[in-house]
Amino acid sequence: MHKKIMLLGSGELGKELVIALQRLGQYVIAVDSYSDAPAMQVAHDFEVINMLDAEALDAIVNKHKPDIIVPEIEAIRTEQFYKYEKSGITVVPSAKAANFTMNRKAIRDLASKELGLKTAKYLYASTLEEFKMAVAEIGIPCVVKPLMSSSGKGQSIIKEDPSTPISVIIDKSWIYAMEGSRGDYKEVIVEEFVKFNSEITLLTVTQKNGETLFCPPIGHRQERGDYRESWQPCAISDKDLKEAQEMSAKITSALSGFGIWGIEFFLTDKGIYFSELSPRPHDTGMVTLAGTQNLNEFELHARAILGLPIPNIELLRCGASAVVLAQKDGSRPSYKGLEQVLTNKNTEVKIFNKPATRPYRRMAVVVCNDSITSNVDIVKEKAIQLSKQIEIIYS
Ligand SMILES: Nc1ncnc2c1ncn2[C@@H]1O[C@H](COP(=O)(O)OP(=O)(O)OP(=O)(O)O)[C@@H](O)[C@H]1O
Ligand SMILES: [Mg+2]
Repeated sequence: MHKKIMLLGSGELGKELVIALQRLGQYVIAVDSYSDAPAMQVAHDFEVINMLDAEALDAIVNKHKPDIIVPEIEAIRTEQFYKYEKSGITVVPSAKAANFTMNRKAIRDLASKELGLKTAKYLYASTLEEFKMAVAEIGIPCVVKPLMSSSGKGQSIIKEDPSTPISVIIDKSWIYAMEGSRGDYKEVIVEEFVKFNSEITLLTVTQKNGETLFCPPIGHRQERGDYRESWQPCAISDKDLKEAQEMSAKITSALSGFGIWGIEFFLTDKGIYFSELSPRPHDTGMVTLAGTQNLNEFELHARAILGLPIPNIELLRCGASAVVLAQKDGSRPSYKGLEQVLTNKNTEVKIFNKPATRPYRRMAVVVCNDSITSNVDIVKEKAIQLSKQIEIIYS
């Protein structure tokens, strides 16, 4: 019997998940704040609501009576999830996981204080006074993030700059964080700046009827709080990888539930640090669309959600993904360069078909693969170069 699945958030990650679920015979209702969102284009039905509005959420849940609710984004009134879970709906991976990860404080305290995972030093502040004290205590440079935000919104690094007094930099950082906070929740985390050599995502799959599985680690590079390219596998020592897996098993088990999780770590000279996690497919995991694994991250999520077996996760090829970002506002964009880019072997372009552009919005991704023994850095460079050849035509 198929399940009725409500997907909250209908971006490019949701779209791939819907395709994976469709292939397993499921019924999906895709939800977002605007119509014609990527996942809606491939779902059975859709709803357009403000997902931070509890009443609007209740209304569509009552209307469709889904068996399973799958959050694709963070900006949802996740407190509602506990109630849905009590009423017998499965929330993926669990109401607790979705609710905790919406707020950096909940997840950081769980990781650091309760589970003892190694993280950057951190303090919270909810007034400018507290903020100044926190910055002094953590030290400069430090990273400032609103507790409720994603994709780098409201984030800044406080560091010395000879042309500006440090007090001005600190004030600016506070204002920027306040402006970038989601909703009425005005609190920030001040983190020690971690001088990492690289950062990775460890895709972790928790299963109802099986053990916790790990995908080969994914390397990525971030700019302006968003990922630009990712590659798999990435360089990591056996010791760091083992620690990452242990930390991932611990935190996913504490948060409970079944599905795929993207767990982010920093690799440093002083060992590996837990950074943050998302209880859903991860954007850097789009590299698995290059056919790097026997099952991509969306197929893994779909199986885990449905309690279907995952006998193994195997790296078949090395691969890379590089994003195509919009530069300005527009609607109904078209794309140039496919003819050129697709002359390359082992290369695919995934256009998300978003109905509108705005500066820095992710519109497409180029994925490339090569044999498992080839040099992943070369594949990465190829993906980056090819992503530059996809041109967005604004109208
Ligand atoms: N303490 C830190 N030290 C050094 N760099 C950091 C630190 N915290 C974050 N960064 C950098 O900023 C990036 C974004 O941070 P983080 O993942 O916490 O934010 P986010 O808004 O949740 O991002 P997303 O939602 O896109 O994953 C990290 O991937 C890393 O490159
Ligand atoms: Mg992140």
